[in-house]
Amino acid sequence: MKIGIGSDHAGFELKEFLKGALKDDGYEVVDYGTKVKKSVDYPDFAEKLAKGIQNKEIKMGILVCGTGIGMSIIANKFKGIRAARCCTIYDAILARQHNDANVITLGGRLLGQELALEITKTFLETPFLKGRHLRRVNKIKNTEI
Ligand code: RB5
Repeated sequence: MKIGIGSDHAGFELKEFLKGALKDDGYEVVDYGTKVKKSVDYPDFAEKLAKGIQNKEIKMGILVCGTGIGMSIIANKFKGIRAARCCTIYDAILARQHNDANVITLGGRLLGQELALEITKTFLETPFLKGRHLRRVNKIKNTEI
């Protein structure tokens, strides 16, 4: 699966770690930046990744900032993006099973690398359950303006 990853400075180290680990696992990973650790603005990188999903360059995305909160707020402004901030493995399971989330947002200042990797892999590998959840996700899609 081709996935995207992006971060600001606060998420940079975790982004680099996740990128390497996921590549080792066979994922094709597109890096939307930031490419260096100097202070930047997280909305710029969420926008780049969201547009990558909209134009079908990638199927799913990972966004890392200090808390994962800013990235989730901005990513969810883009049509077709369902971003979920995940702090636990159970968050990741339910974000996929129930919400068909296509972007995971993570807090680089909150999560250790190994837990973040576990949460991310769970997110990428858990299928959407459809059924009653599809009706609800369709309502989300129909609400987008
Ligand atoms: C940057 O200092 C920080 O505000 C940002 O990474 C993020 O946590 C915002 O939600």
